[in-house]
Amino acid sequence: MRLLVFCLLVVTNFSDNGKASIDSVLPASANVLLEDTTRSIDNSCYRPCKLNVKPRKCEYKFRIQPTVNDDGKTIISINDMVPGPSINVCMNDIIVVEVENRIPDQDIALHWHGVEQKGTPFMDGVPMVTQCPIGFGSKYKYAFRASKPGTFFYHADSVQHQSDGIFGALMVNQPAPFEPHVDLYHYDRSEEHTLIIAADFSETLTGNLENLSEIKPVALNINGDTDIAKIFVMENFAYRLRLINAIAAECPVVYSIDAHHVTAIATDGNPVKPVTAEHILLYPGERMDVVVRASQPAGGYWARARGYGGACAGLSARAMLLYSGFNYTAMLVDEEKDDYSFEMDPSSAIHGQGLESLNEETDYGAETIKSVYLGVDRTNDLKDEPNDFRYISDAMPKKPFFPAPIALRTDGVVQINGKSFLYPNAPLLLYPKEVRAETICAVGEEDERRDPQCVQVLNAERNDVIELALVNEGFGSNDTYTFHMHGSSVQIVATWQNPARTPLSKADFLKLTNENNVVSKSANPPLKDTIVVPNKGFTIIRMRLSQPGAWMLECRSCSLYSLPTAVVVNVPQTLPKSVLDSLPKCGNYRPPDVLLH
Ligand SMILES: *[C@@H]1O[C@H](CO)[C@@H](O)[C@H](O)[C@H]1NC(C)=O
Ligand SMILES: *[C@@H]1O[C@H](CO)[C@@H](O)[C@H](O)[C@H]1NC(C)=O
Ligand SMILES: *[C@@H]1O[C@H](CO)[C@@H](O)[C@H](O)[C@H]1NC(C)=O
Repeated sequence: MRLLVFCLLVVTNFSDNGKASIDSVLPASANVLLEDTTRSIDNSCYRPCKLNVKPRKCEYKFRIQPTVNDDGKTIISINDMVPGPSINVCMNDIIVVEVENRIPDQDIALHWHGVEQKGTPFMDGVPMVTQCPIGFGSKYKYAFRASKPGTFFYHADSVQHQSDGIFGALMVNQPAPFEPHVDLYHYDRSEEHTLIIAADFSETLTGNLENLSEIKPVALNINGDTDIAKIFVMENFAYRLRLINAIAAECPVVYSIDAHHVTAIATDGNPVKPVTAEHILLYPGERMDVVVRASQPAGGYWARARGYGGACAGLSARAMLLYSGFNYTAMLVDEEKDDYSFEMDPSSAIHGQGLESLNEETDYGAETIKSVYLGVDRTNDLKDEPNDFRYISDAMPKKPFFPAPIALRTDGVVQINGKSFLYPNAPLLLYPKEVRAETICAVGEEDERRDPQCVQVLNAERNDVIELALVNEGFGSNDTYTFHMHGSSVQIVATWQNPARTPLSKADFLKLTNENNVVSKSANPPLKDTIVVPNKGFTIIRMRLSQPGAWMLECRSCSLYSLPTAVVVNVPQTLPKSVLDSLPKCGNYRPPDVLLH
């Protein structure tokens, strides 16, 4: 059989108000014009994915604005929805999302978490790194190819925007014969069978972080606050479910379904060897595809998501797993509350980093692997620094981006190799020469710069193989840190936590790994884009930098309580003028001098 669909190279050609277009970056050999075959009224591309059919162009309009919810609290919605519309497409479809920002005083950008952005690094959605931020009242059109199947999601780049409601599910489906675990389930309905968990905060965070005394989630919800999410099943059939932790705070969550076991089949969109257990543990930004079989007596069962330590300890949310024909009215009046003192035997839970990749380990052979140490820790040594440490993005001069003053007063900031990340004065990917040289610091050479905040860049070249040791040193905090790697999945080569629970210095780490008596590297390391680094421990990741771009490696779990904690893995590429010309230009920005002097 010729699998034509995988050979199609698609070109999209939408000449709309001079906004982004991706035709100029796709391979020159592309000669198959994409037909817009979208038929359904809502422009949805959700459909069974078939072999040998042309991909579609799937267009969405996101109007993002403040909305008052039933409790009278201001949240931020996409098309009046939280979560935002879920995007379900087939592999190789082109996703086009026109984002309109209607949040006064705020600049935004949307990041497509886990999407490779092959050939479209300028669609990755990081303000001042891959694009100019979307100012109040303006629009930006994202367009990229769904080049990889799996469970993803999208969210505002800024953690407070995400926490206030700017997020939603994004699933890329493929023809069933390509699904490695298709034999394990009967139904795979990504739109209906997704449980996305988020946290509610007592106050609106956007534009307000400066003055909040406590930033703590007060509740969890699954698929939004409005209705209890329901998954309908038929007895004895097996279903593929998509679980997404869309919280941007230190909130690991444990999923379970009463009386049912679940089988994990993919982590962060990457297939794994199946493992069955009672609980699924997801850190912020992680996703897991699981199979549940409706093998119990017909009835209604609670699917539960419970905070597991961290900022969401004691919180929980529920959804329903309903066998067909079951009258669930009685469940709704059921006053049973979750046991807040939830404890779990860790061996009864599946976590993505403990799974094995389906594919054999990529052999990097004799290639030079560049090893880089990234020591992560919280520090409050900066209290007496003369710097005004408030972070004011050049792109959003009106509002501080992060709650630095509070963080500094109480808990300090989380840094990498002693530096906080500074968003550059011009988008690094688009206009590298405009970024002020004195604000950039290279990873590994941090000591050469005094400023505690800089544009921290890891310079690399295309096809380099790099190994990053993310070490959660643990002198200044007991937190676990969850990082997200933009643009590609990485191999989780090793992960380790000090059983003695004493902090780990760089020297300790080198000693441990050189002696090689503690760290056993996995044989079939899982591929993931979201990486958990245990406290007083480390996680080693490895990747080949096959795509040019400016790829953030950022802590998504610590930024609500800190300045940005990130490095940019920079694989430079000169973008064609036609691309630069078609992308929106940045508005007036303030030079970063206010931060540095
Ligand atoms: C935060 O508090 C400061 C000082 O009390 C005040 O000047 C500022 O307007 C407040 N900001 C917001 C967003 O309320
Ligand atoms: C479901 O149960 C409730 C009471 O538990 C009852 O009032 C209602 O009529 C039932 N609905 C159906 C469709 O049987
Ligand atoms: C971390 O935990 C230890 C032991 O429970 C405690 O003594 C220490 O104060 C904690 N450190 C921080 C920064 O909270």
